[in-house]
Amino acid sequence: MHLAIIMDGNGRWAKQKGLKRIEGHKKGAEVAKEITIYCANHPEIEILTLYAFSTENWKRPKAEVEFLMKLLDNWLKKELDTFIKNEVKFEAIGDISKFSKQLQDRINYTKEKTKNFTRLTQVLALNYGSKDEITRAVKKLIEKKEEITPQNIQKNLDLPVDVDLLIRTSGEIRVSNFLLWQIAYAEMFFTKTLWPDFTTKELDKIIKEFKQRERRFGGI
Ligand code: IPE
Ligand code: IPE
Ligand code: MG
Repeated sequence: MHLAIIMDGNGRWAKQKGLKRIEGHKKGAEVAKEITIYCANHPEIEILTLYAFSTENWKRPKAEVEFLMKLLDNWLKKELDTFIKNEVKFEAIGDISKFSKQLQDRINYTKEKTKNFTRLTQVLALNYGSKDEITRAVKKLIEKKEEITPQNIQKNLDLPVDVDLLIRTSGEIRVSNFLLWQIAYAEMFFTKTLWPDFTTKELDKIIKEFKQRERRFGGI
């Protein structure tokens, strides 16, 4: 099972508490760790994809963008232990060439150190936009002079696997350029809980509900 999460609401969580937005991001990063451990120990979840930074998030104030980059670097450094202990393979999707050399190195180092683990694959979407991903996939096909088919487009995506369950926190009912191709037949859940308040208990409840849904994929 492939679970994808749009981790939204960090800023509002902080604001509600009279804190700066960055405090919400810090708490959100801790929640991402807890959810990763839960997924690594869940018998059915094979892939967990987390939306961490979108191609549109560059529009935010420079100080917030810089903080998010630093947080990501620190998080990867700190959680390498968590990945190893829980046998989690770390992967990244999106165009990371726009990140600093140091951050790119950190991402590649984490991938390299965890590449043989199979309990869970945790994919972070970093400078990720679905329109950008699909465009790059089609460009690759044209360069290779391959036929443009749905199968070939999918094969050339950063993440060529369909999503089973998509969750978005914070009450927004939109997908914000996340995995548009891969969610074609995903079951979707929108919760009002802000990401820093999201718990493994709520995730557990959503997964139970997901299992009750009848997925027909166009059949009867
Ligand atoms: C999600 O929380 C984290 C990122 C997009 C990096 P937000 O920062 O979008 O929080 P809100 O939506 O402003 O509350
Ligand atoms: C989506 O959240 C991106 C991430 C969670 C990384 P945003 O907060 O950026 O999305 P919008 O602007 O509300 O659609
Ligand atoms: Mg948001």
